[in-house]
Amino acid sequence: MWSDLAAVGRDRSLGGYSRHVFDDADLQLREWFTEQAQRRGLEVETDRNANIWAWWGGPGPGAVVTGSHLDSVPGGGAFDGPLGVVSALLAVDELRVRGVQPSRPIAIVCFAEEEGGRFGLPCLGSRLLTGAADPDVVRRLHDPDGTSVADAARRAGFDPGGLGPDPQRLALIGAFVELHIEQGRLLTAADPTAMVGVGAQIVAHGRWRITVAGEGNHAGTTLPVDRHDPMIPAAAAVLAARRVLSLHSGAVATVGRLRPVPGGTNVIASSVDTWLDVRHGTAADTAAVVDEIVAMVREEAELEGCTVTLHRESLTEQVDFDLALSMQLSELLQVPMVPTGAGHDAGILAGSVPAAMLFVRNPSGVSHAPGEHAETADCEAGVQALADVLATLAA
Ligand code: GLV
Ligand code: MN
Ligand code: MN
Repeated sequence: MWSDLAAVGRDRSLGGYSRHVFDDADLQLREWFTEQAQRRGLEVETDRNANIWAWWGGPGPGAVVTGSHLDSVPGGGAFDGPLGVVSALLAVDELRVRGVQPSRPIAIVCFAEEEGGRFGLPCLGSRLLTGAADPDVVRRLHDPDGTSVADAARRAGFDPGGLGPDPQRLALIGAFVELHIEQGRLLTAADPTAMVGVGAQIVAHGRWRITVAGEGNHAGTTLPVDRHDPMIPAAAAVLAARRVLSLHSGAVATVGRLRPVPGGTNVIASSVDTWLDVRHGTAADTAAVVDEIVAMVREEAELEGCTVTLHRESLTEQVDFDLALSMQLSELLQVPMVPTGAGHDAGILAGSVPAAMLFVRNPSGVSHAPGEHAETADCEAGVQALADVLATLAA
């Protein structure tokens, strides 16, 4: 199955994969998943938020749900998302080999736009499902080409009018367990022999767009005194993001994306959009770090004669996964519990239903990059662990 996915959404220029909601790769992967699920006799449906569900035993209350997402960051790795989907399909196969007859329904879900790689809001499908995102706001989000969620959905054959909370579906979920490649090296640090771990907590995280406006001009002829270059305060954002790492233990801040307008080598930009990703403790801790960074940007902007506007794209509170469920899984599998700095659909669902995560070890810790890797034996251990979990929870 893994080889079916190898060619889909490969990014020849960035390396790795670029798979974004409603693009060709995403539609191809949805078709692939539907076919795989139907081949196993699962009942497939797409919900009002473009999340796909495959049911073993048909939809019903107390369902044990697993799955993950099929989209990627730009130039992302092969495992972030698809590992959870492929493992879920293989875990169903394993349960059948074991002769397990679940007494609760089991479902595999593929959530839409987990990375926010196209429209900026991570965990779009799970946020809409749980009511954590306003469908009117979501419909108007647009990608870097100016295409709105509503238009992209319509073009891909989905009705954007249907987006929104789905309490009846949510009420069917008895437990959600997402398997994911670990994004970091905490598992190996906690237990060098553990191939699999259980998620304990997700740190608060958010995204902000800082727009610095200056004055476009000629790179060669503009005198120092006449320069109002928005790239200077944008550079201050980059440096401030690094500085907060040493000022606040545990905080991380990253500028992973900059857009100078118009973007010419011999042009002083007229404005620069700077996207900031900050993660630290609680949502209030995260917001306080952002305030510090933005204060440094404003200081530099004032010296440069530029203006600054700030837009918060998302802020997600720290999540503690369901303690009883997580401890049950940790005891069942005899593996450690570890926290993570990465966001997940399971973190969104945790606000509404008992949710937990399984991590497959990733000794290099590399993720959101083409070099992301998990050994086959560790992935197989993940499938066995997920099968054990589903068999126990759906018994
Ligand atoms: C998603 O993986 C995120 O943490 O941004
Ligand atoms: Mn992911
Ligand atoms: Mn990711």
